Amino acid sequence: MPSPFPAARGDAFEITEFLRAAGLTVSGIGDPDVYLWIDLDVDGRIVGSTGFELSGADALLRSVAVHASLRGTGRGTELARYALEQAASLGATRAWLFSRRSGPFWQKIGFVPAEISELALALAATHQVRAFAASGQLYYETAWSRALP
Ligand SMILES: CC(C)(COP(=O)(O)OP(=O)(O)OC[C@H]1O[C@@H](n2cnc3c(N)ncnc32)[C@H](O)[C@@H]1OP(=O)(O)O)[C@@H](O)C(=O)NCCC(=O)NCCS
Repeated sequence: MPSPFPAARGDAFEITEFLRAAGLTVSGIGDPDVYLWIDLDVDGRIVGSTGFELSGADALLRSVAVHASLRGTGRGTELARYALEQAASLGATRAWLFSRRSGPFWQKIGFVPAEISELALALAATHQVRAFAASGQLYYETAWSRALP
């Protein structure tokens, strides 16, 4: 599979637009502690993204998205697995994520339902958890988790 490109600081505006179009959160995008990679098309437009935030041995997978015109061909799975590998290579032993709508996609990658309170405890310092807590949305989210090899 082609590896996605590491996102640069100057990509933050375009990544934000891409994630918003995919219905995803954008807290912390552009901040160096949010690890992000992107897929570009031949014209240099973002057509895929993947990433995570790290808190000790816990990784919060986020920003996994494929342009609507390219979905259903396996790229989403590749991008998710890429972020999991990168997080594991940085020492993460457990991955977590929020997903209300794409549970079956994540289950195919080995995620199982998790307690929001456990995720929030493990990843309290992350941008995404802080943003959901601040907006009061945290306990309306659905949490997923899996061990990393
Ligand atoms: C979720 C997403 C990244 C999947 O990308 P994709 O390239 O279509 O995924 P894949 O082609 O690798 O799909 C793998 C499998 O998951 C299934 N699947 C994909 N998206 C799904 C979804 N939203 N809900 C349920 N199942 C889904 C596919 O049908 C496929 O099943 P199959 O193996 O039986 O054929 C893409 O739909 C997307 O960008 N959605 C908007 C953003 C989002 O919700 N991201 C996840 C939250 S972080």
